[in-house]
Amino acid sequence: MRDIYILGIESSCDETAAAVVRSGEQVMSNAVFSQIATHQPYGGVVPELASREHLRAIVPIVRQALADAGHTYESIDALAVTKGPGLAGSLLVGVSYAKALAFALNKPLVAVNHLEGHIHAVLLEERQKGNHQLQFPLMTLGVSGGHTHLYLAQQNQHGWSYGNVGHTRDDAAGEAFDKVAKLLALGYPGGPIIDAAARHGDPTAVKFPPAQIKHRQRGDRSPQPERPHFDFSYSGIKTAVLRYVETHGMQPLVDRRRAALSELIKPKADAVLALCDHQTLDLVASFQRAMVDDLIAKTLAAAQEYDVAMLLVSGGVAANSELRQSFEHRAAQAGLPVYFPSRPLSTDNAAMIAAAAYPKFLAGELATPELSAEATLPLN
Ligand code: KG4
Ligand code: ZN
Repeated sequence: MRDIYILGIESSCDETAAAVVRSGEQVMSNAVFSQIATHQPYGGVVPELASREHLRAIVPIVRQALADAGHTYESIDALAVTKGPGLAGSLLVGVSYAKALAFALNKPLVAVNHLEGHIHAVLLEERQKGNHQLQFPLMTLGVSGGHTHLYLAQQNQHGWSYGNVGHTRDDAAGEAFDKVAKLLALGYPGGPIIDAAARHGDPTAVKFPPAQIKHRQRGDRSPQPERPHFDFSYSGIKTAVLRYVETHGMQPLVDRRRAALSELIKPKADAVLALCDHQTLDLVASFQRAMVDDLIAKTLAAAQEYDVAMLLVSGGVAANSELRQSFEHRAAQAGLPVYFPSRPLSTDNAAMIAAAAYPKFLAGELATPELSAEATLPLN
């Protein structure tokens, strides 16, 4: 079969990205423009600013992806774009641009679900490494700033199908990292700095109750699913951190750190760590340990329930070093292989969108001219 080169475009949140992938298995280029600096002063993504930044970055980033891959607009076979889920205004920039480009070039366009993209980031890299032994079905844990979910993914002759077997009832895991970092004045985004700080603290110092949902929530009258769901809940642990700060007299130090960091432009991790005492380091190490334990325990329980052959972990939080180490250890004990994306492919990127588009392109599943963005697009 001849090689197929797909140009992927991703703009669902705060990264404008474009990439060229060959036949769903080789990254030819992977260009990402991150808006972190724009949103940093606000401690979170500001949707209105995100859309404007996408508009500014999208043409240069696509040109860069084509140039890095040694391709031109004419030499690619198809385009792929993230249809959702994500921020509506951000998605619309990518979708409108991809539709216009596909129309102008008279090339096919494939619409991709962002969550499916994260799953295919891992599959793409394993194929790229020559690992063609992947076993299905698989259980995938998606953990980012906007999502925490478990999907059972199966491959059949028509392509891929997905079933949700767990999701967060409130905050996403990455959101909990970001909110805890914000309330402790550690900067934004919270995940990487908590990851770094946790290495210097004692993870057993503070006990957090397991953030587990064992019973249906009050008022939830939906019928019980045939098989159990493995839902997550992380707003409680964030509140527990806040209470700990209040009851242990930590607020003055937090305020001093906030004031000191506000003087610095783009503070580096070392500068933040220099402003942390032992109590703070122990608190973040304990918080991270509780998050990691909960994510792994639920994923392994779901994997056992659905009798899967392998595990995938994807999304920004998959970059967490303790999560990776513990997962590898505990999945090995359970006799399951677990795969993570490399750092560049664990955060939002367009290579994963081009890779997820490949089986759809082969199956002739193309976008129609009516394609629009869907902020809450489900994966199934
Ligand atoms: O997938 P992603 O780049 O964007 C979306 O949210 O879609 O994920 C970003 C999230 C942020 O919440 C960030 O704090 C978190 O991933 N994150 C981490 C780490 N690196 C990024 N969380 C924990 N540990 C990390 N090393
Ligand atoms: Zn994402």
